[in-house]
Amino acid sequence: MKILIFGAGYVGNRCKDAWGDEAVLSKVHVSSKQDALAEIVANQPDVVLNCAGVTGSPNVDWCDSHQLETIMGNTLMPIALAAACQEANVYLLHMGSGCIFYGDSPHADKQWREDDFGNPLPAYSRSKWAADLALSTLPNVGIARIRMPIDRIPGPRNLINKVAGYKKVIDVENSVTIVDDMIEVFHQLMEKKAPGIFHVTNPGSMRHRDMLKLYEELVDPAHTNEWIENDELVKLGLATKGRSNNILASTRLAEFGITMRPTAEALRDTMEKYAEAKTRGA
Ligand SMILES: NC(=O)c1ccc[n+]([C@@H]2O[C@H](COP(=O)([O-])OP(=O)(O)OC[C@H]3O[C@@H](n4cnc5c(N)ncnc54)[C@H](OP(=O)(O)O)[C@@H]3O)[C@@H](O)[C@H]2O)c1
Repeated sequence: MKILIFGAGYVGNRCKDAWGDEAVLSKVHVSSKQDALAEIVANQPDVVLNCAGVTGSPNVDWCDSHQLETIMGNTLMPIALAAACQEANVYLLHMGSGCIFYGDSPHADKQWREDDFGNPLPAYSRSKWAADLALSTLPNVGIARIRMPIDRIPGPRNLINKVAGYKKVIDVENSVTIVDDMIEVFHQLMEKKAPGIFHVTNPGSMRHRDMLKLYEELVDPAHTNEWIENDELVKLGLATKGRSNNILASTRLAEFGITMRPTAEALRDTMEKYAEAKTRGA
């Protein structure tokens, strides 16, 4: 399978590194269907993975003060890319985000299903939800929503680095995505050209407290932090908008025979590898 990846950021590079010669990581900045189509024609991929997006710097709060750039990158660009893929008759797997859901779902178990409607407030989440709405019924298009990537490789986009680096931490419960598992699932979804929305999250959920407990056991016993309430995040000026916290039900991967490791098992394995990487000085 030849994979053409758009978006040479964190996830795009992690996927390229994992897949080696099977993948091409495009450096093209897509502003139109023509930009994307030219790159597809030049590379002749079997499938396209869209890891491009506007995620904000230093964080997603940037998107609220740069709404048009955010909409262009997260809504219009995926639509242009989807149009190019439809014209070239190539399957597209687009990366979505679980942060389109805020709080509990209306279901009795409070978990969000793939076909639930999003309820996002901030610009970043709204732009991601808008792309999902536009793309989700197109044939030959899959949407892989991830949540809070946890990676064995230390780095600023890794939830382990982020939470371990904060002095004040909220203890919220969330679905998470273990990056090694995500890369494997993306590959399988593209092999199967699976259409529609998928929650690419490990079964179960995680509290920040669980993750930091494991971090202190395996990485840094001297680590300390202060616990704060969720609503204090904005009150204390640590974020301009409240963050999305939620639990996603992953109901559709099983239709394609795809499974992910339970969160607790995958988290321990990843933290052990993270600790080894830290010891090696990564
Ligand atoms: N990491 C997370 O926590 C997370 C969670 C849920 C969902 N996601 C989604 O996963 C995707 C990948 O995230 P990431 O963490 O890898 O983000 P990232 O590190 O910010 O990478 C995104 C990349 O897309 C590029 N890009 C932006 N607009 C583009 C365009 N029009 N054409 C081509 N490339 C463009 C950016 O390039 P420039 O920087 O040069 O503009 C950047 O290299 C995004 O769609 C994001 O919304 C991420």
